[in-house]
Amino acid sequence: MGRKRVLSGVQPTGALHLGNWLGAIRNWVKLQEDHETFVCVVDLHAITVPHDPSLLAENTLKTAALYIACGMNPQQCSIFIQSQIAAHSELCWLLNCVTPLNWMERMIQFKEKSVKQGDNVSIGLLDYPVLMAADILLYDADLVPVGEDQKQHLELARDIAQQRINSRFGSESIPILKVPTPLIIKEGAKVMSLTEGNNKMSKSDPNENSRITLLDPPDLIKKKIKRAKTDQHFGLEFDNPNRPEADNLLSLYAILSGMGRENVARECSQMGWGTFKPLLTEATISALEPIQNKYKELMKDRTELHYILDNGKNQAEEVANSTLKRLQLALGLLRKNQN
Ligand code: TYM
Repeated sequence: MGRKRVLSGVQPTGALHLGNWLGAIRNWVKLQEDHETFVCVVDLHAITVPHDPSLLAENTLKTAALYIACGMNPQQCSIFIQSQIAAHSELCWLLNCVTPLNWMERMIQFKEKSVKQGDNVSIGLLDYPVLMAADILLYDADLVPVGEDQKQHLELARDIAQQRINSRFGSESIPILKVPTPLIIKEGAKVMSLTEGNNKMSKSDPNENSRITLLDPPDLIKKKIKRAKTDQHFGLEFDNPNRPEADNLLSLYAILSGMGRENVARECSQMGWGTFKPLLTEATISALEPIQNKYKELMKDRTELHYILDNGKNQAEEVANSTLKRLQLALGLLRKNQN
């Protein structure tokens, strides 16, 4: 039996932050060792809200460079740009035609994002989860490693594959699309904002102090952690629902220092914020330093980056086109030279 397949992606909207790394990319790095891994920069998702066309291509390349800087190895996985493979948009259309509108209207992220857009909500924003389902289903992915916030989108992808395609157009013994399994690893699955411990760390938060990006220089990291919201209690603890900031910052420290939760719980139980924050700062700066160095090196040679992305595209496109064809035939579309 072949290796299991993995597919995931990040939007190239602004700089990636600790949540993107710890909730998603860090897990891809481990999975690539023994899975056939496809990771894409989902630029078509980034245009579902108003965007600046003069920045998109550059951000897309930077995001791909960050994947590699975080440890994705182009020799072991396929790294590509979503919009360069037309099958993503084509499969999205086919899936659109079988997906009930009311499934889309209950998507939490759509509701949240559409509130921010006011009168300017695009059909693309509503359709975002179907495009995401297409990304996943095109690669017959077994596993989709994502953060907690993507759970509902993954369920939708499963429902479309199972209820709307396989059970209608396939047979029990020959499913047309593989039904994917979400892989949400608890540690790091929901990194919270530095300025409000009940909100998720997010690229779209207007307050830049709410997140640490992977490219923040040491003095900025220091400043952001210094300003991070705390509470009045002495002694730091995990899992106290009344102390979301303590739980979030300790969790970050446990992961970034490599010490793990038990050691951190012990070390910090009698600690005040003033002692803790410099430790977290140090751990964050040290964890990001190798990523930042590798990133700078990669961005010096754009030709090499484009070469990597071209290779990734060729590998991914072969798989994507064959799935697309399978679905086109199942839906009864006439293919070229078909008898
Ligand atoms: P995006 O760009 O918003 O997020 C990329 C990944 O980062 C995770 N993530 C977090 N994890 C922990 N804590 C946080 N605060 C945090 N913020 C973000 C997200 O869960 C995600 O795994 N819709 C996807 C992009 C996408 C995709 C796909 C993912 C499009 N097609 C196919 C997987 C498979 C998204 O939200 O990206």
